[in-house]
Amino acid sequence: MKINVAIDGPAGAGKSTIAKILAARFNLMYINTGSMYRAVTLYALENKIVPENISEICSLLHNLDMHFQGDNLIVNAEDITDKLTIPYISQNVSSYAAIPEVRERLVELQRNIAKKYDVVMDGRDIGTVVLKDASFKFFLTAAPEERAKRRYEELLNKGIEVNYQDILNDIIKRDYMDSHREVDPLRKAEDAIEIDSSFLSIEEVVDEMSKIINRAISEGSEM
Ligand code: DC
Repeated sequence: MKINVAIDGPAGAGKSTIAKILAARFNLMYINTGSMYRAVTLYALENKIVPENISEICSLLHNLDMHFQGDNLIVNAEDITDKLTIPYISQNVSSYAAIPEVRERLVELQRNIAKKYDVVMDGRDIGTVVLKDASFKFFLTAAPEERAKRRYEELLNKGIEVNYQDILNDIIKRDYMDSHREVDPLRKAEDAIEIDSSFLSIEEVVDEMSKIINRAISEGSEM
C-alpha cells in the first residue's frame, strides 16, 4: 500500500520535528517543502533579485537543481541546509513563496518526488494542492506565542542571537501573508485532521498521528 502523509500548518507548529519522527517510524522519505521556498529565497537574495522581477526569478528557478539527501537539501551540488533557517531568510521567504511561477515549479518537483517515494511532506499547501490524494492529512496548529517560544529556543540552541518579540512579530506577519496570498494560501484541507499542539508534547502529537496511520494500515484501507 502506497503511503504518503501531508502535514500542513503555520510556521513553528512543530511540523518538521514531527514529520522527521514519523518518517523514521514508518520508513518514509521526509520532504521539508518550506526549505525549497527558503532555497529560492536564499539565491534570489544573494543575486539581488527582487520578488517583482519575475523574469529573473524564472531564470533563477531554471538554474537551480534541487534534491534531498536524507533530511538535507542539496542545490547545485551544495548542501545549503544550514543556511536556510537564519532570520534574514525567514523574514523574506513569504514574498518569494507568493510568486505563482515559484509555486508552480516547486509543486511540480514535490509531486515528482512523491511519485517515486513514499513520503511525509510538510508545508502549507500539501493537503490542499500538492498531494490532494494523500493517504493521511494533518493540519498542525499552535498559538502564535507558543510557536514563537519554540523558534526562539531553537535558534538560541543553534547559537543564533535573537529577540523573542522580533520572532513573534515575524510569525504573526508570516501567518498573515501565508494565509492571505492569492495562490495556494495556507488553509486546512476539508479532509485533514486538525491537531492543536499548544499543550501537547512532540511525543503526544506523534503518537496521535501514528495511531491514526496504524489503524488505517491494519484495516488495510486509507483514511
Ligand atoms: O515551513 P517554513 O517556515 O520553513 O516555510 C517557509 C515559508 O515558505 C513560509 O513562510 C511559507 C512558505 N511555504 C509555502 O508557501 N508552501 C509550502 N508548501 C511550504 C512553505
